[in-house]
Amino acid sequence: MAKKTKSIWFCSSCGNESLQWLGKCPYCGEYNTMVEKTVETGVVRASATSSGHVHKPVQLKEIESAAEHRISLHNAELDRILGGGIVPGSLVLIGGEPGIGKSTLSLQIPLNCPSLKTLYVTGEESVKQVKMRADRLGGDSSDCLIFSETQIENVISEAEGIKPDLMVVDSVQTMFAQSADSTPGSVSQIKEVAATLLRFAKESGIAVILIGHITKDGYIAGPKILEHIVDVVLQFEGENRGSYRILRSIKNRFGSTSELAVFEMTGTGLREVSNPSEMLIPMHGQSLSGTAVCAMLDGSRSFLFEVQALVSTAAYGTAQRSATGFDVRRLNMLLAVLEKRAGFHLSAKDVFINMSGGLRVTDPACDLAVVCAVLSSNFDFAVPSDICFAAEVGLSGEIRPVGQMDKRISEAARLGFKKIFVSSFASLGPKAPGIEVVKVADIPALVRALFPRG
Ligand code: TYD
Ligand code: MG
Repeated sequence: MAKKTKSIWFCSSCGNESLQWLGKCPYCGEYNTMVEKTVETGVVRASATSSGHVHKPVQLKEIESAAEHRISLHNAELDRILGGGIVPGSLVLIGGEPGIGKSTLSLQIPLNCPSLKTLYVTGEESVKQVKMRADRLGGDSSDCLIFSETQIENVISEAEGIKPDLMVVDSVQTMFAQSADSTPGSVSQIKEVAATLLRFAKESGIAVILIGHITKDGYIAGPKILEHIVDVVLQFEGENRGSYRILRSIKNRFGSTSELAVFEMTGTGLREVSNPSEMLIPMHGQSLSGTAVCAMLDGSRSFLFEVQALVSTAAYGTAQRSATGFDVRRLNMLLAVLEKRAGFHLSAKDVFINMSGGLRVTDPACDLAVVCAVLSSNFDFAVPSDICFAAEVGLSGEIRPVGQMDKRISEAARLGFKKIFVSSFASLGPKAPGIEVVKVADIPALVRALFPRG
């Protein structure tokens, strides 16, 4: 059959496909992100499986249910967010900004598990550079092969011969597939490389970790367009200047998606932080005005972190609102609630909010801590350091309950907090020892309880 080709357009931000060029992607709303790709039509079906055999539908009850096998990566945090280890034959994408620690983390895996036969494919660094990094990280590298290659077909044929337990590909942007005729890093190349690796992983049963760079503005996003191809997406977050790194599971076909792991970048690689509260409440024990501690839940884990606020008289006509690690629209809403429902005049004040440890927080339970930090800075009155908060603030100024209170309370008690402020409407389990639970119904009640001068 003669090969026919046609042009289609991909959004490089979200991967949306269109038959024509568009200035704005209708799916993600980004401008100027559509890029052209030529695809073959008509002959695609015949090559649906690279091994050549055709699959037939089978009865669900006839499929043998295999006991789920997982390989431990000897890294408790990483194993946990993968859902208990990596699944053989799965494709895991680790995304993050350049320099955040993706190569370091993936090289630490074979160094920590000498019994795991690993093929580490590097398209970015020379084998000497990888060796230098490995020397810095320490560990045992007895069964780790380093392969400096950028052509994906060569990588696959080499891996088929070696049959490793794990293959790491660093990074998707530097790999090149002969079958797609564009430059490495382009949308069609990224898609082709990922699809080739996915086929390889499924057919060989080898677990593959693929590294992908994400830039701040999302352009040449790569990993964004791969999210629906791969089995697991882990994303590195963190302030580049800080040493803490958060690895978040965004998608996981074999486990929970709201898991989070914390690492610290040290001189000898990434250290697992098994007790994140210890780094997130650095000023614990000191009463400072403008700080409040929140008992947050991320995934299945509860930990405490500090919210910092600074409220000052606006130097220019319009007040500034800035939030690091917190949604600025949510901050504006909370300030409007304080203004309208509790009579605090904050519209002429600059308000800055910062979440400790470079954390990005989406748990609504931190509303109350944000409100307290703002009020504490506004009154210049420190909230006692043994108090923490866990509740959402509603538009009427009411304090609303949040889920899994028992987990939050027991974590607060474990860290030595003496009081936790929660919603009057929260349903609580048996009383936790050593901590007093204070129930508040609305903002004025909170102000009366905490700020005598308010
Ligand atoms: P890297 O893993 O190369 O980032 P990525 O692959 O995501 O681009 O990490 C690079 C940064 O980590 C670099 O700034 C140096 C720092 N680093 C350490 O602080 N300690 C170490 O042991 C290593 C290997 C790197
Ligand atoms: Mg790297």
